[in-house]
Amino acid sequence: MKIGIHDLEVATSHYVLDLDTLAERHDIDPKKFSIGLGQDTFSMPAPDEDIVTMAAEAAHTLLERHDASKIRQVLFATESSIDQSKAAGVYLHELLGLPANVRSVELKQACYSGTAALQMAVNAIARNPEEQVLVITSDVARYALDSGGEPTQGAGSVAMLISADPNLIEIEPGSGLHTTDVNDFWRPNDSTTPFVDGQLSLDAYLGATTAAWDDLLARRELGLEDIHRFLHHQPFTKMARKQLAALAEHTGTELSDDLIEESMSYNRALGNTYTASLYFALTAQLHNNSDLAGKRLGFFSYGSGAVAEFFTGVVQDNYQDHIYPQHVAKQLDNRVALTYDEYRELHSDFAATSETFTTTKTTNAPFRLSGVTEHQRRYEAQ
Ligand code: HMG
Repeated sequence: MKIGIHDLEVATSHYVLDLDTLAERHDIDPKKFSIGLGQDTFSMPAPDEDIVTMAAEAAHTLLERHDASKIRQVLFATESSIDQSKAAGVYLHELLGLPANVRSVELKQACYSGTAALQMAVNAIARNPEEQVLVITSDVARYALDSGGEPTQGAGSVAMLISADPNLIEIEPGSGLHTTDVNDFWRPNDSTTPFVDGQLSLDAYLGATTAAWDDLLARRELGLEDIHRFLHHQPFTKMARKQLAALAEHTGTELSDDLIEESMSYNRALGNTYTASLYFALTAQLHNNSDLAGKRLGFFSYGSGAVAEFFTGVVQDNYQDHIYPQHVAKQLDNRVALTYDEYRELHSDFAATSETFTTTKTTNAPFRLSGVTEHQRRYEAQ
């Protein structure tokens, strides 16, 4: 029985900052961002947006095409959590009007947990093939102003419906895994922005993904030549190039950048979307290449701290009948450009508070955060 990604949809935030604007005001050559990091712009949420509103928009669009009564689990992967106890998926469940007989939990391991959710979903369906699982990846990457990570901020969500007999990707059994305790990037409970050791994070990413590849080789009869395209977690798109070069060196093989080129267009425009980044790379690959039917994709998932997984999936024959590039184009084109001063003000005004506040209506998305009362977040459809 084939199990995998049946359908997916994406959402991003209301605002966008052009990295040329940041470069100009910081007196940096704009090519450092466009070529050195491989990034053009990044998404930034309005005060009435967060991981729940983006996820609800992506999932709402997705579920307009499906029978939600088959969904038995909502697995919400994020590292931009809005509560230490209550799962973001429970808010989402209410906004989407899902039936009550559903399991809802939140998963965390930096940018990796979306992959854990996907694998848990595949395993669940192996036991109950008639059921479906809604996997959500949703994050806001928010670094300190004037920090090294500032140009790699971003925001976005990918909602995926996991089922038997999928329309898009069959996830194949057998992953390569790697966990190692490294402090390359972490965000303590009392901080709204992460602490980052930039160089260590690059080394940790490359080391862990290469080790995950080696672990896969020890478990499956598979060679680099069996992978048609590689997909990566892309904190900035140049990272995928760095990983491919490291993999080529490690294996003593020539690997052309053509293997990853089509996977980068959305992440170049969104910035780092943490858990969602790998799945935006998948979305871009499916939208930018019409000749993928029957071909195998290799997925490099990485989350700082650090956990990596390499797994594979096979693109299904009629995938082109089930993709919606126009929805992504709309999400990107509808973003409202920020000036540098507006960006700084929006960034500085962000407060992780449970004191009462009301947000000004800004987003045009179908769901918004209206504020907080009695220490409870209040969402509304619009
Ligand atoms: P930096 O010090 O600002 O930049 O930090 P740099 O000096 O290293 O330059 C970046 C690149 O631009 C270099 O290219 C330069 O040569 C090039 P490279 O040598 O690396 O190929 N460059 C230029 N290119 C063209 N024209 C120019 C020019 N000038 C310079 N004029 C760093 C970069 C990534 C460290 C920083 O942005 C950062 O700390 N980012 C956050 C951490 C991060 O993204 N790490 C990635 C791996 S860890 C990960 O992916 C997990 C993560 O997503 C979190 C999670 O899992 O939850 C972050």
